Amino acid sequence: MAANSYEKPDYWSKKAFTEGYPARSVYKLKEIDEKFGMLKKNTRILDLGAAPGSWTVFALRMLEGTGHVTAIDLSPLAKDVKSDNLTFIQGDLYDERVRNHALSLGPYNSLICDAAPATTGNRLIDTTRSTGLVELAVFYAQEMLKSGGNFVVKVFQGGDQQNLLTQMRKIFKTARGFKPEACRSESFETYLIGLDKKE
Ligand SMILES: C[S@@+](CC[C@H](N)C(=O)[O-])C[C@H]1O[C@@H](n2cnc3c(N)ncnc32)[C@H](O)[C@@H]1O
Repeated sequence: MAANSYEKPDYWSKKAFTEGYPARSVYKLKEIDEKFGMLKKNTRILDLGAAPGSWTVFALRMLEGTGHVTAIDLSPLAKDVKSDNLTFIQGDLYDERVRNHALSLGPYNSLICDAAPATTGNRLIDTTRSTGLVELAVFYAQEMLKSGGNFVVKVFQGGDQQNLLTQMRKIFKTARGFKPEACRSESFETYLIGLDKKE
């Protein structure tokens, strides 16, 4: 892959469209999965902040008709993101009814979270909201992941990433940051990875 090729948004958006994904963000999950082996056949996967659904489609393809994906978002998935192996819950991750619905479909082997707050342009506000979503995703992981389970969550850089990793190390045998090449170079997002949930 040519250097900086991820910086040509039209190319990557067109590639995603051609390959049947509703968003280019799929290439970030693909890189994460290639490096850490997050997703496996015949497992249950929880996808938080899933719309329009490119991570959901990637997860369903990894399952090859086995297992199950539970996807949650405030907004609907793209209309062609459908599968007998998919349950979509439209709602707010902070809503207890949404959390209980997700809980009833678990426990899960993997939790993938690409949720991002609506941005204001104020870096402090945006980063603080992103950190809140990460803490919520860690709570979901604690409650709903099986032991041995894996976790990936998006975070806006600039907050207290070390504190988030410290929280994750209480739950996972390994926790670290990873910035996929597919994040646009100017983007201040990165990902935190938790591997092998403790008993
Ligand atoms: C970058 S998009 C996710 C893209 C998705 N992974 C894909 O590949 O298609 C971030 C999503 O997080 C969702 N989100 C943000 N806060 C949320 C909340 N409190 N509850 C549910 N979804 C939320 C937004 O609605 C948005 O669709």
